[in-house]
Amino acid sequence: MPTYVGIMGWPVSHSRSPAMHNAAFQALGMDWRYLFLPVAPDDVEEAVCGLRALRFAGANVTVPHKRAVIPALDRVTVEARAIGAVNTIVNRDGVLEGHNTDAIGFLRALREAGFEPRGCRAVVLGAGGAARAIVYTLLAAKATVTVVNRTLSRARHLAEELGALFRVHIPTLPLSAGPALQTALAKADLLVNATSVGMAPNVDASPLPDGVTIPPTLTLYETIYTPRETALMGQAHRAGARVIGGLGMLLHQGAVAFELWTATSPPLEVMRRAIEAEL
Ligand code: ATR
Repeated sequence: MPTYVGIMGWPVSHSRSPAMHNAAFQALGMDWRYLFLPVAPDDVEEAVCGLRALRFAGANVTVPHKRAVIPALDRVTVEARAIGAVNTIVNRDGVLEGHNTDAIGFLRALREAGFEPRGCRAVVLGAGGAARAIVYTLLAAKATVTVVNRTLSRARHLAEELGALFRVHIPTLPLSAGPALQTALAKADLLVNATSVGMAPNVDASPLPDGVTIPPTLTLYETIYTPRETALMGQAHRAGARVIGGLGMLLHQGAVAFELWTATSPPLEVMRRAIEAEL
């Protein structure tokens, strides 16, 4: 009998994770299967309990369930609880553990691209689950963070919670505050787009308001990986800034999940090629 894992989301058919993990299992000759698990919002709790009943080794969790799964789990890591989102569930003999591998995935992706976040000054666009994992990682690396979001109250909420945890003040701005955002960018080393603006099919959209430019000294980390080059990445390239695409975070969050489930070192290059083929 194969061992099963999968990804819960709604919708989930766009996910690249099945291709990435199945390629890894195949490359290592492991009798494991990674399935698409479409789960409607009302069924989240039952679906999580189903992992136990069906003896799955675990699962990934994606939009919109990353927060909703938490009450159904037996244990949640300190990090995932602080971030408020679980993207990986591990079934340890019927005890369901919640992890957030987006946070460490982001850190590994940054470092792999040669950017050391320790002590840097970062501006993060967005205040959803992805932004929370990224802000957590940056604060843990002793970076200074400004959070910018369309809905200011959401940015403030994130800043208050994570600021209290790390005992730092996190300035916030609305995305519409062009001049203040420009000033923040002028002082920053790193800009992270953790909004969904620019994701296919809205490939011409950029999260930056009109008139705001990217300083050439900045490094842009784009979390979106479809398209491979977003409008914002184009702006940054034209400005002469360094640009890191979102594929690395997808790869590394998956690699950490793979290791948690299998206790086996993940075949990174196989997984990278599988995502690239999908894209
Ligand atoms: P995820 O968990 O993937 O981060 P999310 O919680 O839906 O997803 O967050 C999406 C982010 O993109 C939010 O920061 C959202 O801003 P709001 O908090 O104001 O909703 C941002 N976003 C989505 N569409 C946007 C748009 N058209 N303009 C600006 N920001 C947008």
